[in-house]
Formats: sequence, C-alpha cells, structure tokens
Amino acid sequence: MTSDPLPAPDRPLVLVVDDDPSVLAMLGRVARREGFDVLTCTGGRQALERMAEARVDLVLVDLMMPDVGGLEVIKAIRATDQSCRVVIMSGQATIDSAVEAVKLGARDYLTKPFDLHRLRDLLADIKRDVSQLRERLVIEGDLAQRTEFCGMIGRGPGMQELFDMIRRLAPHVRTALITGETGTGKELVARALHHEGPRRARKFITINCSAVVETLFESELFGHLRGAFTGATENKVGMFELAHGGTLFLDEVGELPPPVQAKLLRTLEVGEVQRVGSLEQRRVDVRVIAATNRDLVREVREGRFRSDLFYRLNIVEIPLPPLRERREDIPYLTAAFVREFAEQFGKALIGVSPAGERVLFSARWDGNVRELKNVLERACILAPGELVTERELADSLSQTVAETAPPPPVPEASDLPTAPDAEAPGRASLLAVEREHIARTLKQTGGNKAAAARILGLSRRAFYRRLERHGLGTRPSALVSNPTSAQSRA
Ligand SMILES: Nc1ncnc2c1ncn2[C@@H]1O[C@H](COP(=O)(O)OP(=O)(O)OP(=O)(O)O)[C@@H](O)[C@H]1O
Ligand SMILES: [Mg+2]
Repeated sequence: MTSDPLPAPDRPLVLVVDDDPSVLAMLGRVARREGFDVLTCTGGRQALERMAEARVDLVLVDLMMPDVGGLEVIKAIRATDQSCRVVIMSGQATIDSAVEAVKLGARDYLTKPFDLHRLRDLLADIKRDVSQLRERLVIEGDLAQRTEFCGMIGRGPGMQELFDMIRRLAPHVRTALITGETGTGKELVARALHHEGPRRARKFITINCSAVVETLFESELFGHLRGAFTGATENKVGMFELAHGGTLFLDEVGELPPPVQAKLLRTLEVGEVQRVGSLEQRRVDVRVIAATNRDLVREVREGRFRSDLFYRLNIVEIPLPPLRERREDIPYLTAAFVREFAEQFGKALIGVSPAGERVLFSARWDGNVRELKNVLERACILAPGELVTERELADSLSQTVAETAPPPPVPEASDLPTAPDAEAPGRASLLAVEREHIARTLKQTGGNKAAAARILGLSRRAFYRRLERHGLGTRPSALVSNPTSAQSRA
C-alpha cells in the first residue's frame, strides 16, 4: 500500500524515420538534447515493425521514402493507435501532402530544410504533453488508492454514499440484503460490513447457495447428526454454528429452495438452529448478510421466494448500481487495476492512453467491475510499453464480448449502417457500443455536438468523423440540431 508512483522511464521515446542517414543523425542529436530517447529507421516498413515492439511517444516521419511513404505510415499507425503522436517531414514542394497528413491525424508537419527553432519548440511541446499525461495518470492512481474503502474503489457520489451507508450500518446491522447485477461488488460490500463492525475479529463465513446440492442445503446450513440420513456417517456442524459470533454471508440467496427458506427465516427470527436429525435447539448469534443478483421482488411475485423471508432480509437493503450508471468511477477503477496488474506482472505500466480511456468509458460493461478488471488484466498482459492503449483494450474487450454471447441487443440496432467490418463479431459489437454511447451523449446534450465532443473527450474533428461513420451526423434526427455552426469552427 504505497502511494509512490511506479518507476517510469522519464524520457519520452521518439522514432525518427527517414531514408537520409544525415537527417536521422541530425534529428537524433536535437531530440536527445531536448530530452528524448531516440530510435531511428531508414524506411517506413521497418518503422512499423519497430512500433509493434516498442511503445513510442512520437514518430517523426519523412513523407517521401522509397519503400513505404509517410502517409502510409500514418494510416497504418492510426488504424491501431490513436494516441501516438506523429509529425510528418517534407520538402516545400510537397506541402499539399503535408496538409493531407495532418488530415490523416498527424499532429503537425515540418518542412525541410528544418527551422531549428520550430523543431525544438515542437519537441518541447510534445515532451510537455507526454509528461502531463503521465502526471495525470499518477494522480488518478494516487486518488483511487487514497479513497479506497475496504478494497473498494469509488470516487463518484454513488459510491461515496455507499461507503457512508456501510460505515453507518456496520456497527449495528443484524441482517442485510445486498442487491445488484453480477460483478458490481456485492461480496466486497458484505466483507466491508463485517470488517467495519464489532465482529471484525470473528469469523466471516461464506456459503454460495448456487453451489450447494439441493438435498444438502439443510445440513450445510444447520448441520446434522450421524445417521440422520443415508451418507451422514459423522456428526456435522452447520455453517450457522461455525459462524457463531461472526458473520454468515449467504451469497446467491435467491437459489435457496423453499423448505430451506422457511428454516432460515425461523433461525433469523428466534436465533436458534436445529441440526438435521436432532430435536435440540442450539442458540446461535450470527450476523446474516445475503446477496443476490436476481430480482427478488419478481421471485416473490412468481412464488419462488418466500415473501416473509424477503421482508425479513430486506429490512436493510443495499443496492449496488451497475457500472454503466457510475461511469465517473471508471478512470479510478482503471488506475487502481492497472497499478495492481503492473505490480503483479512486474511491468512498468503507468496507465491507459487517452484513446484507451475513451474505449473503456463507452463500453457497455454488462459484467460490471468484474468485467472491467478482467479486460484490464488481459490488456496489461498484452501492453508492450508503459501505457495500455486502445489496441490492447479493444482486443481484450472483444474477447469478453465474445465470451458473454449472445450479446444483449443494442437499442436502435436496426438503423445501424452496416459497418464495413461487421463480420468480425468483436469489432462490430464495439462499433455498436460506440454508436449507442455517442447517440446517448448527444441526447444528453440536447444535440449540442461541441458539448458532446467535450464529454467524450474527442476533438470536434474526431467527433465529426465518428458521427459520419455511424450515420448519426446527417440524418434529420432529433439528436442533431445545428450541424454547421460547430463544424465551421472545428
Ligand atoms: N468498487 C470496487 N473496487 C474495486 N474492485 C471491485 C469493486 N467492485 C467490484 N470489484 C471487483 O470486481 C470483482 C467482482 O466483485 P464481487 O465478487 O464482489 O461481485 P459480485 O457482485 O459478488 O458478483 P456476482 O453476483 O457475480 O457474484 C472482484 O474481483 C472485486 O474485487
Ligand atoms: Mg458474488
């Protein structure tokens, strides 16, 4: 639990690509003097190979090269990586192509012969960018760590309220019901209630009700006497007695068969258990925390869950919001998980690239925090450099989307223009996710595109490109108000 930033190589890395060795030597010298580490390549193909191995912060690339030219290099980089900065270099005569390069996503262009002042200024600017990004990532990681509560990360108002609620309840609560979708952190909350309460030094015992064979429930919970039923060769102490003085966590309580529900209710009400095969009542003092990802109200309505037990458990209900309703926590969860995995895998990862953050921010997260954690674990394993980029995240996300097939339907999917790569399931789902999120954000801003772009962390140009790609920009839809005024300023 240290808040020291991870050791980060503090010099940004520039890859210089030019077929003229004297240019490489000169640029290398200047860049080193400006505080960069330098890699050089004499051709575009070799440059792309290098980029697959090393995470570079900046590419300085010549426009005209014999094998693969600068524009091709930019296109190839942009196809997989939005965060690497690219600067194109060209002679005066090819200035139109330099403009084209900027359209393709180059940050700037330099004309030959080089203006040394401009070159130095540009390098200094980029170096400042890189270190600001690193600082921000370290700060987010520190904040996440500092505001952690019993292993739970959450900076948004929803999670802060939850932490307060746990602090208030933990000293007194006898029974509680934690509800929420899978992966929202129900088990962490149960442990927090135990840990923050007066029984923290006593046992915390978990029984996962979905993993118990139906006929053994009663004996698991309440114990049995030798000979009580076939196979009962020894006396057995049940979970309630084992947890005496401490906490019993009934995970997936919705799976309890009705006869056991009745016995559980009795135990909760009178504080006694009866081992199977015994007439003796034994007193138990146990705090019972139940959790479910089912809709218990519906289970009650449909007769699968006893209403009296439901009301008894539900006296204190702790509902956990799904991750998509508290997206403000995603950057902090991300920062904390990347730190955790960096340490676990012994990698010098400091965080997620800005484009990667946008991918994470707009995903559906049907599997909630668990899914986010799994996606980041895989991406951290894949990431070659100090940043986890959108490339690794998209790969990793498409895998979870594939794992949780069939994917839930996307609203308005019918008017999705067929994406060019719709046959690739992972990519197609990501596109659909992106489209849905953009549409929702536009709705949220009342059709104000500049505001939507800001919320999504995109430049207006990048935002317009996406609108076009998803067919959201030009339709006379309620989402779109004033399409020209924002564009003219982009
Ligand atoms: N707020 C959080 N901060 C950090 N990690 C979290 C948070 N919420 C959940 N996690 C992590 O996500 C994973 C899933 O959490 P947990 O097992 O508590 O979910 P659950 O609600 O019990 O899910 P299920 O209904 O599928 O059992 C765990 O690895 C947990 O550590
Ligand atoms: Mg659980």
